[in-house]
Parts: sequence; C-alpha cells; structure tokens
Amino acid sequence: MAIPHDKIEEIRNIANIVEIVGEYIPLKKIGKNYVGLCPFHNETSPSFTVSEEKQIFHCFGCGIGGNVFHFLMRYRQCSFREAVEEVANRYGLSLPKTKMTPKEEEAYHLKKDILTINEQAARFYHQYLTEEKDAERAREYLRARGIGRDTISDYMLGYAPSRWDALTQFLQRKGVSTALAIQGGLLIEREDGGVYDRFRDRIIFPIFDPRDRVIAFGGRVLGDGLPKYINSPETPVYQKGFCLYGVNVAKVWSQKEGKVILVEGYFDLLSLHARGIRYAVASLGTALTPAQVRLLKRLSPHIILIYDGDAAGKKAAKRSIPLFLKEDILVDIALLPEGQDPDSFISQVGKEGFLNLLSQAKPLIDWYLASGEEETRDNFERRYQFLQEASNVIFQFKNPFKKSHYIGKLCQLFHVDQALIQDLHKNSRDISLGSDLLAAFLNSLTPDERFQLKTIRYLFSYPQMVHEFARENAFKEIVHPLFRQLLDLICEIYERKNELSLSELLLNTQEDIIKSLITKWAIETSPFKLEDGYEILRAIKQKRLKRERQKILTKIKDAEERKDFSEVLELLKEEKRLIKQTEAV
Ligand code: UTP
Ligand code: MN
Repeated sequence: MAIPHDKIEEIRNIANIVEIVGEYIPLKKIGKNYVGLCPFHNETSPSFTVSEEKQIFHCFGCGIGGNVFHFLMRYRQCSFREAVEEVANRYGLSLPKTKMTPKEEEAYHLKKDILTINEQAARFYHQYLTEEKDAERAREYLRARGIGRDTISDYMLGYAPSRWDALTQFLQRKGVSTALAIQGGLLIEREDGGVYDRFRDRIIFPIFDPRDRVIAFGGRVLGDGLPKYINSPETPVYQKGFCLYGVNVAKVWSQKEGKVILVEGYFDLLSLHARGIRYAVASLGTALTPAQVRLLKRLSPHIILIYDGDAAGKKAAKRSIPLFLKEDILVDIALLPEGQDPDSFISQVGKEGFLNLLSQAKPLIDWYLASGEEETRDNFERRYQFLQEASNVIFQFKNPFKKSHYIGKLCQLFHVDQALIQDLHKNSRDISLGSDLLAAFLNSLTPDERFQLKTIRYLFSYPQMVHEFARENAFKEIVHPLFRQLLDLICEIYERKNELSLSELLLNTQEDIIKSLITKWAIETSPFKLEDGYEILRAIKQKRLKRERQKILTKIKDAEERKDFSEVLELLKEEKRLIKQTEAV
C-alpha cells in the first residue's frame, strides 16, 4: 500500500542518514562527508561515503548508492515500506493507514488471478497424472525413477498430456481469461493470435511459495528429449532466484529435524523424499542468491549444502560462502563422489548411505580452508593468493569469537603466525566478492552510449539547460532505455519544481544502476562547466549530420549500381551541402 509522497518526504527530511547508517557501521568524518567500510562488498579501505548535506550514500568501491531508505532496504533486506516504517518509528513519526492506489489494486488483483489459474492448472495436471489412461507412460517413468504415490501427492506432481491444447481447453471450459493464462506463462500466444500449451508431454512440478501458493511450474521430458527441463517464464508472481523448490514440504519437516538440505535439481529432491528424507529444497540449477539464502534460513538455522564433488560443484560451493557469512548461520557442506547427484547417489547407496554422507558434512568454512590448503600445496604463488583470499573471508565474520577461531585455524593449517594473516588482510586488494556493479555496467557501454551518458551527466549538473537541449532536438540521441528513463525523470522533475531535486530523483528510481549513477554524480564534483553544454550540442549535431551523410552515401552507391547518374548528381550535391553544414557546426 502506497505511503503518500509528502509523508515519505517528511520522514526523509527529519531523518539523518548519518545517524541511521552510523548505527550499523562505524563512520568517520572526512571533509564534508562521512566514510566507512562498505557493508555491501568486501573491502579493507573505506570507499563507502555518506553525505550529510545531500542525505545520500554511495560506495565508490561497488557502486551501490541511494537514500536512507535504500540503505535500509539493502542492509536489512526489507521492503521500501518497511524501511520507511523503521525510519518513522525511530523518529517517533507515525504512518497513516492508507488505501491502495488504483495501480496497486490492479497489480494485486492480477497477481491473485494468476495464482488462482496456477492452482487450477496444477490440479488439472495432477489429476491427469493420477487418473488418465494416457498418463500411464508418465506414471511408469516416475515409478522407474523410484518416485511413489506419497511423493507425487506431497509435491502435487502432474503430467501435461501430449496435446497442444489440453490446458487451453480446460481453462476455457473454466471460463478463465486466455490473456491471463498467457501472462501467467501457462499458455503461449501464436503469431496469428491463437494460443497453445507451454507444457506438453512432460512431468509437471508445481513450484510453491512458503505460503503454499503455486507460483510457477517446471516440466521434464519423459525420456532423453531436449530441452530436458522447461520452466515458467518470469511472471507477476514468479521471480527467478527468489524461490526454492520444495519449501511447501520442507517447512514442516525441517522444523522437526532441525535442519534443511539444499540440493540442485527437481529429481534430487523428489528422490530424497521418496526415501523418507523430507527436509530438502532445491535451487533449480541456478547459482544461489541472497534471497534464497534468507529463505533457507527461515526454514532452519542449520543448513546442509550438497554439491557434486567435481570442480564445478566445488566452485559453486565456494561462491556461496559470502552469502552465508553475512547471515551468521551454521552451514555445512557434504560433497558427493564425482559425477553423482543426490538422486543417483541415494539410488545407489540407499537412505542409510545418504544419511552417512550427511553425518560427514563439515562446516563450509572449514572445508573451504582445508581444501584451499590441499589444492595449493605444490604452488607457492597460488598458496600465497589463497591465504590472502582466505584472510579476507575470515575477517568478514561479525562474531569476534568465530573470527579469532578461524584465524587460529588458518595459522595452524598453513604454519604461519597471526601477524601475517592480519597483514595479508590489511594489505590485500579488495577481493571481488561483490563486484562493482557500476564499473561493470559502464564497461559494457558502447562509445555512443557513453556519449549519451555524458549528455545526461551534463544535464544533471546544469538542469537549467534542458530547454536549450530540447530545442536543439538533442534528446533524440538518448536511446539507451535506462538513460532515456533517467532523462525523462530529470526533465519531469525540473519542469515541476524548477530545480532538480535529488531526493525526488532517488525516490522515483527503482533501478540500482541509476541510483548508483545519481549518488555518484551528487557526491563528486561536476566534471563540466556550464559552457561545456554547447560543446556537447555541437557534437550531437555533428553526429546527426554524419549519420545523414552515411545515408546519402549508401543511396549514391545504390544509384550508381542502377546507373541512374542524374540521381547520383543530385545526391552528390546534397552530400556537399551536408559537408559544408558539418564544417559550419
Ligand atoms: P541437471 O542437468 O543436473 O538435471 O540440472 P537433473 O536434476 O540431474 O535432472 P535428471 O536427474 O536428469 O532428471 C539440474 C537442475 O537444473 C535445472 C533443473 O531444475 C534441474 O533439476 N535445469 C536443467 C533446467 O531448468 N533446464 C534444463 O534444461 C536443465
Ligand atoms: Mn539427476
């Protein structure tokens, strides 16, 4: 529910970002600004900057930036509303209970409707699997993989029959809007306007959220066909990386067992369940995300990761370390024999064998240190690098006892003394646990996009020039969608307020990259003088003329080929005119 705009402004005005950020991380005043170690990436020298004057923060190391609410959203992993509430509470302000805006109401109903269709579809597929005659192949497939009736029912597995319109017809009979079913990802629209079922002749896995709502589907071919799995696209109710397969079942069992297992695939999970291990969830083949880690943490404070013992599995396990360090939870890791997944392994060794593997799980950090030590025994350079990386990892522990415990462990493993570890940590470059999102973005730009950005950067410093630029048609050059968005916002705010309000800019921006650009620009000194604008306008005109000339040249070539020499002559005249114009700019 939307909080009224002026209420947000009021709260933001009363709050002091330095006070609030300062509660979470130590800040030191340097010049006009405050600096500290960035909580969003791993660094040893402070690049996290807070401006009291502008009420924003920006990290010059990783690029993350925003206002006080954005800081809390990221630091506390909460919603915008929760962040506003937290600040309001802190300063003794209250938030009015508000009604939904029409837009929110619409979004709310859309989500609700899609969830209802998903539920109907899941039932349809499930009933088909369990009752229909032509689902026998699917039942046989599951039987052959050891998946019995209980598992089928607990996860509401289904079968999508081998027809183009099975679900389409079912939904039509139920009077469900086709457009909604398309938006929900169940049906696909044909070019001629017709529709067909996304899932055909596949085992269906409904994906539930922790509140038991069906948010998406996966589907597996019955044999060796490709693609092996297809999944729902992102929809208003499904965002990849924000869910785990199997939470609906695991939330009951992981409480009872006091632990939760993380596996990768659909069948890994089902296979464990079929053998009585019901406290597992699956990440569905993507690299673990912070949102998934938070979900895991809610299931149980004791997490066991199961990875393949091959190089890729170990790499994936290492990549997850920073995610868990932030959360201060107990994470163990168990590695499978190379080339096995949990499904193939438990099929081979049975439940007892699998529990035996679990009982050998080691704390993730211990495994990381021990395997790093082992793998670098014969290479001095890599050993040194690893030691450096590991000291940085260990220094991320918030808990001082853990930190000191692992420093001791590292010393013992590598036969070095504590002073060295401290030194390595202090002198090392920042390791790229959270990479610089802004730098990566800027690097990916083409020269022309860089020019577009330069134009906007100028207008950010001198918004009073937007009219001049608009008069010269300069905005047509800004075609990068993000830059376009930022430019429109700058123009809109300037028109409305007759100045470029930084707080309005930030409050109206959802994109992290844009927030990052804005906060960086607001804190650094402007690279432009007012008169540089004319230089930029000149460059824009030249670009435009160059493009026109390019077009004429193509036309000339074309006319020459057609031997239409009078046309060529005309075009040449035009080209000459363009060259003159370019020189005159
Ligand atoms: P795997 O290729 O390891 O498959 O992908 P699997 O889980 O062992 O599947 P089976 O045992 O052959 O049936 C791991 C996970 O990655 C996702 C699925 O979630 C899968 O379970 N994946 C894989 C896809 O989404 N699409 C694909 O084409 C392949
Ligand atoms: Mn498998």
